[in-house]
Amino acid sequence: MSALVKVGVIGAGLIADFAHLPGYRANGAEIVAVADVVESRAKAAQKKFEVKKAFKDYHDLLALPEIQAVSVAVPNHLHAPIVLDALAAGKDVLVEKPMALNLAEALAMEDAAAKAGRVLMIGFNSRFRQDVVKLRRLIQAGDLGEVYFASTGYLRRRGYPSGWFTVKAESGGGPVVDIGIHVMDFTRYLVGSPLPVSVVAKTARKFGACPVEDGVWQSSDVREGLRDGSTFDVEDFATAWIRFDNGFIMTLETAWTANLARDRIYSNLLGTKAGAAIDSYHPIHKKGQEAASVEAVDVYTEVQGMVADLALPYHANDSHSAEISHFLAVVEGREAPLITPRDGVVMQAILDGIYRSAEASGEVPIQLQATAAVSLKK
Ligand SMILES: NC(=O)c1ccc[n+]([C@@H]2O[C@H](COP(=O)([O-])OP(=O)(O)OC[C@H]3O[C@@H](n4cnc5c(N)ncnc54)[C@H](O)[C@@H]3O)[C@@H](O)[C@H]2O)c1
Repeated sequence: MSALVKVGVIGAGLIADFAHLPGYRANGAEIVAVADVVESRAKAAQKKFEVKKAFKDYHDLLALPEIQAVSVAVPNHLHAPIVLDALAAGKDVLVEKPMALNLAEALAMEDAAAKAGRVLMIGFNSRFRQDVVKLRRLIQAGDLGEVYFASTGYLRRRGYPSGWFTVKAESGGGPVVDIGIHVMDFTRYLVGSPLPVSVVAKTARKFGACPVEDGVWQSSDVREGLRDGSTFDVEDFATAWIRFDNGFIMTLETAWTANLARDRIYSNLLGTKAGAAIDSYHPIHKKGQEAASVEAVDVYTEVQGMVADLALPYHANDSHSAEISHFLAVVEGREAPLITPRDGVVMQAILDGIYRSAEASGEVPIQLQATAAVSLKK
């Protein structure tokens, strides 16, 4: 618990309202200010979370010297410029995923954090899920042997977000950057963070703005009638095959709309001593459900020469709150960061590789260096 850290939250939309603002309150930080270009949202958040100040312009928040750390919870195309401003203002930063729109931006952010000597964490909250935490302990102890393959997926039967999420210039992509990123990141984290080498991917748009009423997860702007949400120029399905420098292979399937029995978030890992499966769905928009369930990580192993299944029970937790608690501990110097800017860069390189491969219709190398100069628009 942190009683000391004074924070600000930039962006008062969906994720700020259900994760960052309540997370800071639950973990004892003082929320000094909130900022949103839609002033009514900043004011509503100020009231709901008893925040001292609300601003329309985030620069006013960054100008407050007492604010030590900020969350950046805005549309993806604004991550890089706002994070760079926050670092320049001397703040520690927790930026939502994906880190940026492309690799060049992510590298510029990594560089700026190093030069400023500030914390920069990316919102890979799935790393704090109890099933991931438990399985990582097992893998780190060597109980799975060499983990050489993982098939991962994040699939929704019906569940595409509207608004800026479906506009490539604002989001950077569809379900790959919105949800697929979570399973790819936590799986890479589980197996010791190897570096990606190449990828073969295919993306498709089969449904677009799906007419089923239940399937529309309206973005804040569409819900409030500030934009019509009709632009849909990103993929709604993707599959990928990613090769890593230690020989590990990861596959991905991800979709906002798919004709399946149920939504799925999964990672099936194959190791030489044992395999393991995480397979769950935690609907973040249905409050309480995540915290209520008790589930198990399945482990497939051998006992006395016989195949045997183990179940590691865990209490499903609020991974966002756990992430915020860790961020505050990092800001205070009590814990070393479990998510580094490099993790954001690596994931950005994978995202870029997926789209390059889909365009090229073949395997492409994954580059961890920028090939083009970065130009940031605010
Ligand atoms: N980790 C997760 O599970 C998770 C879940 C949802 C969203 N996200 C990420 O969080 C970010 C925000 O997503 P969201 O669902 O909250 O979107 P949203 O559209 O609901 O909220 C974004 C907010 O940013 C505000 N904004 C836009 N420009 C701004 C500016 N210049 N200054 C201040 N505020 C500005 C908007 O007015 C809006 O209120 C995205 O990067 C998204 O990928 C992460």
